Amino acid sequence: MEMKPIRYNEKTKIFSLSTANSMYQMQVREYNTLVHLYYGANIGQTETAYRIVGRDRGFSGNPYAAGRDRTFSMDTLPQEYSGSGNGDYRINAIEAVHEDGSNVLQLSYESYRIRKGKYVLNGMPAMSGTEEEAQTLEIVLRDQGSDLKVTLLYGVFPELDVITRAVRIENRGTKKVEIKKAMSMEMDFLQSDLDFIHFHGRHAMEMMMERQPLSHGIQSIESRRGCSSHHHNPFAILCSPHADEGTGECFGYSLVYSGNFQCAIEVDQADTTRLVMGIHPYHFSYCLGQGEVFEAPEVVMAYSEQGLGRLSHIFHDAYRAHLIRKQWVNQKRPVLINNWEVTYFDFDEEKLYQIAKTGKEMGLDLFVLDDGWFGNRESDHSGLGDWVVNENKIKGGLPELVRRINALGMKFGLWIEPEMVSEDSSLYREHPDWCMRIPGRNPERSRYQLNLDISREEVREHVLEQIFQILDGSHIEYIKWDMNRSLGNVYSAALPPERQGEVFHRYVLGLYQMLERLLDRCPDLLLETCSGGGGRFDPAMLHYSPQIWCSDNTDAVERIKIQYGTSFAYPVSAMGAHVSICPNHQTGRTAPMETRGIVASAGALGFELNLSRITEAEKETVKKILQEYREKETLLQTGDYYRLTNPFQNQEYALWQVVSKDRSETIVEGVLLKCEANPRIRLIRLRGLQPEKMYQDVDSGRCYTGGALMKAGILLPVTSGDYQPVKFRFIRIEE
Ligand code: GLA
Repeated sequence: MEMKPIRYNEKTKIFSLSTANSMYQMQVREYNTLVHLYYGANIGQTETAYRIVGRDRGFSGNPYAAGRDRTFSMDTLPQEYSGSGNGDYRINAIEAVHEDGSNVLQLSYESYRIRKGKYVLNGMPAMSGTEEEAQTLEIVLRDQGSDLKVTLLYGVFPELDVITRAVRIENRGTKKVEIKKAMSMEMDFLQSDLDFIHFHGRHAMEMMMERQPLSHGIQSIESRRGCSSHHHNPFAILCSPHADEGTGECFGYSLVYSGNFQCAIEVDQADTTRLVMGIHPYHFSYCLGQGEVFEAPEVVMAYSEQGLGRLSHIFHDAYRAHLIRKQWVNQKRPVLINNWEVTYFDFDEEKLYQIAKTGKEMGLDLFVLDDGWFGNRESDHSGLGDWVVNENKIKGGLPELVRRINALGMKFGLWIEPEMVSEDSSLYREHPDWCMRIPGRNPERSRYQLNLDISREEVREHVLEQIFQILDGSHIEYIKWDMNRSLGNVYSAALPPERQGEVFHRYVLGLYQMLERLLDRCPDLLLETCSGGGGRFDPAMLHYSPQIWCSDNTDAVERIKIQYGTSFAYPVSAMGAHVSICPNHQTGRTAPMETRGIVASAGALGFELNLSRITEAEKETVKKILQEYREKETLLQTGDYYRLTNPFQNQEYALWQVVSKDRSETIVEGVLLKCEANPRIRLIRLRGLQPEKMYQDVDSGRCYTGGALMKAGILLPVTSGDYQPVKFRFIRIEE
């Protein structure tokens, strides 16, 4: 019997959401409480209400309606979206203060609606899905003591194995309500024997994977920096303790949002687990008057019964096809040369032209002019906010430089940092109140700059107008949109005191509006977003920019870890990765050109070095890197990515593999990190092939069954010297 993606059983009051390999169930139970039953493998027709067992655990109170029944407690029930002040003492999903100062929210089930197609959110990116691709379930809950209506939104993508969550909160009454916390989702597990995997980091060292078993109490990953941050990515995995790349249960949660976030997990008295994810409640409040609505951003959830590898494939497929803007899906990207590590601020139009010209000679497609081309930007002390070309540096102006570079047959790209202002700028002198700043206090600087208050429309418009003038005047096909500090002094001169808790979120909405406006006006523009590298590498930014600069760390060896961590949620086509000079500017390390090429071409390839200063042999290698990248680009963009080694455990070699969806082709690439005298035999097992089919090694001509490649493995070459590149390519032989 064919199963509908969303079913509601009127008799048992159970909702079942099913995808090809996963199922999600919840039930309307006693006193209209919406209880979470199950998320995991697709278990067919069985309804799992039997999993809910009421127990009197003492010190866990009971709702009034439960009368003398001490076994029914909000404190011990797995819930779908928990309120506050209602006897549930665990971390919760929503909090609000009513006009009378009370803070209780007791949410009861009211109604539901199922429809074809995927819901959309107002002013925030979210996955898209047509009527054939996705269905939406809306469940309406209402607070028992007020007119607050909470609609839980579920987007079900049956073929993708993805379920999305979001929440819409509406004040249907006449009294004001102040929302203090509104998480996008909650998930209660009946067990706690789970590992927590998350990705922490810092500037130039993003996405460091960490894994630990859950323990009693609350742990969380979060950002309070106004952006998703280098310091923790808005992505978390819970998995069975034995889960690895190929086996075990994994649950992934990815927040489509670019501001403050929190993913908090609590293991409670009964060894059950609750996870909530959404906007961080830190300095957050939202005043809802009569009829006003607040929407919480989307969380994309995926479940895999086949380990972390499959979990990543689900996210990659989902984001490639349903989040990245349509025209960039499976679209080849220009290979770029960026002048930042070549010149920093020290350039003129001739230097730039020469960089572009050498790039063209090597076969590159796009020249990107980075920081320093505008206002009085001689260093990072000044100029931000004045998006007018500095003709002292670029004589003849931008249109002339762009024209000359276009005449070489090269596209032109430009760096901007629209959300910032330098105190030494015309913008700041004219509008000192447009930056974030708390009246009566000195602002806190970071990289000598202040945040513009882009929650304000006039500020956004002023900046965009300048950018539009630049874009109208020259043929610019790529923009690198940067953001080089965390938010500080978060306060908007345009809002009254009681609304200052909205500024963090309004800033993010303002950012999305700017990006929408830019892309509406220039739909073919390729955007690469950036925040000092990977400080805003999140799914929402991916919606606007199909590639994101992964890290300011361009050292190939360090990049292996950064790109490894990034690959858990994000496709390799999203990771801006450049070949840079050696000794590397961040670490001083030297690695062969080919190795730098292998690592950078495991992402969206670019170059960031003076190509006229490298040796003739290195120039040949650059051409080879480029040629090989072009040959494998489609495979990289559309295939399944496998992490063959974990660089946090294996210090000897790092390997990854990409297999085409039809299993006819695969590449295995990586770096032999440490050279050994008299080396051991090192065999590596491939993944994702058809065991009974024959595959040929393109270099040696040798043939293997897919089974042999996956079970007997292939020999890694013996090389000399550290950081040696390794690569294989196998093609299926059609019998
Ligand atoms: C950030 C970016 C770099 C470069 C500089 C310019 O750090 O990540 O790539 O653009 O800004 O100031």
